[in-house]
Amino acid sequence: MSEYETLISAARQARENAHAPYSNFRVGAALRATSGRIFGGCNVENATYGLTVCAERIAIFKAISEGERGFDAISVVTDTETLTPPCGACRQLIWEFCGDVPVIMTNLKGKTEVIRMKDLFPKPFDSSNL
Ligand code: THU
Repeated sequence: MSEYETLISAARQARENAHAPYSNFRVGAALRATSGRIFGGCNVENATYGLTVCAERIAIFKAISEGERGFDAISVVTDTETLTPPCGACRQLIWEFCGDVPVIMTNLKGKTEVIRMKDLFPKPFDSSNL
C-alpha cells in the first residue's frame, strides 16, 4: 500500500478540518493529479443539511478550479471499522473527472481497501450517453 501512503496521509490531514457538527461523521479525502499534485478535502456540513458537501467533491472542485485535469487515485479516510465508500453523488463526479481510478478507503487504524471505480460504479451515465 506504500504507493498510496502520501495520498492517505493527505486525506487524514484534510479530515482534521472537517466541519461536521450535525453528523459528527468526519471525512477526509485526497485526490492525486497526474501532475503529482495532491488536493485534500473534508466534508463541510450546513444547518440546512442538504447543502452539505462531501470531502471527495471538495477535493475534486479544488483540483479542477486550480486547473488540474487528469487524476490517478483518490483516497477516503474515516474513523470507522467499516471503511467508507464514496456516496452516489460523489461516484458520479469521480467518474466524470477521474474515470476508472482506484479508490483507497482507509480508517484511522490503517485498515485499507482499494476498489476501482469500474467496480463501484459499473453502469455510469456519462458524456458517452449524450
Ligand atoms: N460524507 C462524505 O464526506 N463522504 C462520503 O464518502 C460519505 C459521506 C459526509 C457527508 C456528511 O457530512 C457526513 O459524511 C454524513 O453523511
